[in-house]
Amino acid sequence: MQTQTNPHNDRQAAIQRAKQQLQHMIDLLPQMIVLTDAAGTVVRVNRRMVDFLGISEFTDVLDRPLFALFPEMTEEFFRKLLDAPEHNSANSTTIRDSRGEPRQCCFEIINSATESDLFVIVIDDVTDDHTAAAEIERNHKRDAVRALSGALQHHLNQPLTVITVRARLLQQALEQGHPDPEHVQRDLYDILSQAELIGNLLAGIQAPVDFATEKYLPERRDEILDIRESSGNRMSMSEAATRQLRTLTSACNVHYSGYAHHARETSRYAFMIARQMGLGEMRAEAIRRAAFFHDIGKIAIPDAILQKPGGLSDEEMAVMKTHTEAGYHLLQPFPAYADAAEVAWSHHESFDGSGYPRGLSGKEIPLSARIVAVADAFDAMRTKRVYSEEISADTARKLIKEQSGRQFDPAVIEAFGACFNELYEQLCKAAESTAPDELTQNDCY
Ligand SMILES: [Fe+2]
Ligand SMILES: [Fe+2]
Repeated sequence: MQTQTNPHNDRQAAIQRAKQQLQHMIDLLPQMIVLTDAAGTVVRVNRRMVDFLGISEFTDVLDRPLFALFPEMTEEFFRKLLDAPEHNSANSTTIRDSRGEPRQCCFEIINSATESDLFVIVIDDVTDDHTAAAEIERNHKRDAVRALSGALQHHLNQPLTVITVRARLLQQALEQGHPDPEHVQRDLYDILSQAELIGNLLAGIQAPVDFATEKYLPERRDEILDIRESSGNRMSMSEAATRQLRTLTSACNVHYSGYAHHARETSRYAFMIARQMGLGEMRAEAIRRAAFFHDIGKIAIPDAILQKPGGLSDEEMAVMKTHTEAGYHLLQPFPAYADAAEVAWSHHESFDGSGYPRGLSGKEIPLSARIVAVADAFDAMRTKRVYSEEISADTARKLIKEQSGRQFDPAVIEAFGACFNELYEQLCKAAESTAPDELTQNDCY
């Protein structure tokens, strides 16, 4: 006789099995799960939670308030959590497990009491994830520091060595009193270029646009950060030259008090004379720039001579005259400053051939240098220097005019006379100016 099955009982048994399977699944979850009623009283916890708390069965915590499970935590923490279940907000905090080990746990409500009268609180122990993430971050930082320190050693060591050696040579030369202008200019040029290079590299580190690497050694796989490529620094030759010369002119102004003022005024007067002679705007601008650097070679002259009050001995004058060649050698490596180099070399040549350093005459002297010679003399006469007293503008004009055809080109003197009133106005403005005797951005071509 066949036994009749009761469909109702079968369904009840199936529901019961499903409940057990569901409970089993919940117990197997790696997260801790706590069910509470609306008042925060524990209704059920899963196996992971039981293990974490170090109790034998969930009944040990049944009917206890939620906060009582976690002695380190306040009731307020859970109250806030339960009061805003709709936000499903996750709160991370540290709690201790049954062995007293601190664990970083993330509390999250994934259900709302309004739907089932139960809160389902999922507690995720993220301590290991945090430790792994911290380790990854530490490794990344260590790699980045290694890459940067390798790159700095690779890119900066050599320029720093060049600077140190060149500075030492320059110091020795200046201490000896009669430096060879060619050596001085080479040392200065090397120091400035390497300092510029380092400055650019450091600027690149501050504002990287990319992270380009290069092989440290061709036969090895190691790659280091290429600071120059990473910075996206593509400075043109002329920009680089301008920056180097700006550094040099600032140095010159310290070494030779009044350099900035003399350079600025000579530059203005030369521009006015050039325009008066009918030269185009671009040519006049080039002369203005060249005039600014005409005495840059004075950086190679020892202070004892440059700052000596009164006249110079023949020997000292011979040293002083070398500023023309030193200036030429300093400016000549920069293609954009070819005119300035010529002017630095030739601004003490005389129209009649009695000047220095090469004894050029007439049109052998570049026109720009013939113009700068007059502007230079006018400012030098007008300015009180350590070795001479200031003379009036009118006297300066007369003295300069007397040198027409001798020291100066008559055509330039004519233009100088024609724009003298304009020059004088400029001179008065400069005298009234309270601007400090320092270089400004506008002075640096
Ligand atoms: Fe000069
Ligand atoms: Fe000068």
